Amino acid sequence: MYAPDEASLGHRFPRGALAAFAVVLLLPMVGAARSWGGDAVAEKGTAAGAPPCVSCHGARGEGQVSPAGAVPRLAGLDRAYIAKQLDDYREGRRRSDIMQPVAEALRPAETAEVARYYSEIEAPPLPAPLAAAEIVAKGERLAALGKWEANLPPCLSCHGPQGVGVAPSFPYISGQPADYIAAQLRAWQSGQRQNDPLDLMKTMAHGLDDKEIAAIAAYFQSLAPPKHQGVL
Ligand code: HEC
Ligand code: HEC
Repeated sequence: MYAPDEASLGHRFPRGALAAFAVVLLLPMVGAARSWGGDAVAEKGTAAGAPPCVSCHGARGEGQVSPAGAVPRLAGLDRAYIAKQLDDYREGRRRSDIMQPVAEALRPAETAEVARYYSEIEAPPLPAPLAAAEIVAKGERLAALGKWEANLPPCLSCHGPQGVGVAPSFPYISGQPADYIAAQLRAWQSGQRQNDPLDLMKTMAHGLDDKEIAAIAAYFQSLAPPKHQGVL
């Protein structure tokens, strides 16, 4: 029968204490490791000074419409697409005074983790005021049929049915704020954004006038965003 004597108890106690000590020591390290996860970057920012993404992109990456300018949705975008955009900001192929310092402050592992985090979460549609029905209808025609007299294929031929995106290269644009979509098309026109493969979007943007851009942007904002890129 097992009956611990003084000596074996005395022997076991320090071991238990050691184990407890190890747990106390290791827990904060586990905590520290976790704080570099994508959710922590999004919610708290990073030690090197990247601000919390949620302060602009919304609590669930749903984006934002504000008089100061629109902020894009991130929830459900493809992770490779998100990481590419952060690299493009850092390296100047896509210029934004707001996002360049954010991208520069992220370490490569943090960029990858925060991209994965946003690619995996779902967010509700952004409540945003819609343009007049005839403007949305004009945008729908352009998006679905293109503008052949200017050699422009339909937006949906690359961005997928209802603009839900085709992973990894063609982002969803349905449910993005209209002001954001219009700003990106103008950025391609002006050369502020030059990060599209084969100049595909530069060519598209140059073929559209201001009214067409406004109509297309209103149409895509009126559509429900997909749960994940390519998945309604
Ligand atoms: C101060 C506000 C602000 C903060 C903080 C911020 N963003 Fe942004 N973000 C923006 C704005 C505004 C844009 C659009 C810029 C443009 O016109 O290119 C943007 C664009 C992006 C894009 C491009 C999206 C697309 O659809 O192409 C990504 C990716 C992104 N941000 C990720 C992040 C991440 C990750 C963080 C946190 C580490 C973050 N942002 C923090 C304001 C912010
Ligand atoms: C020939 C293929 C093609 C066509 C047609 C096309 N796009 Fe794109 N679009 C792309 C690619 C590729 C990207 C991603 C560029 C990058 O990597 O930054 C993109 C990106 C975008 C973005 C940026 C999204 C974001 O999250 O920042 C917007 C907005 C956009 N397209 C709108 C449109 C509209 C509106 C049309 C129709 C007028 C259109 N596109 C037609 C290929 C296409």
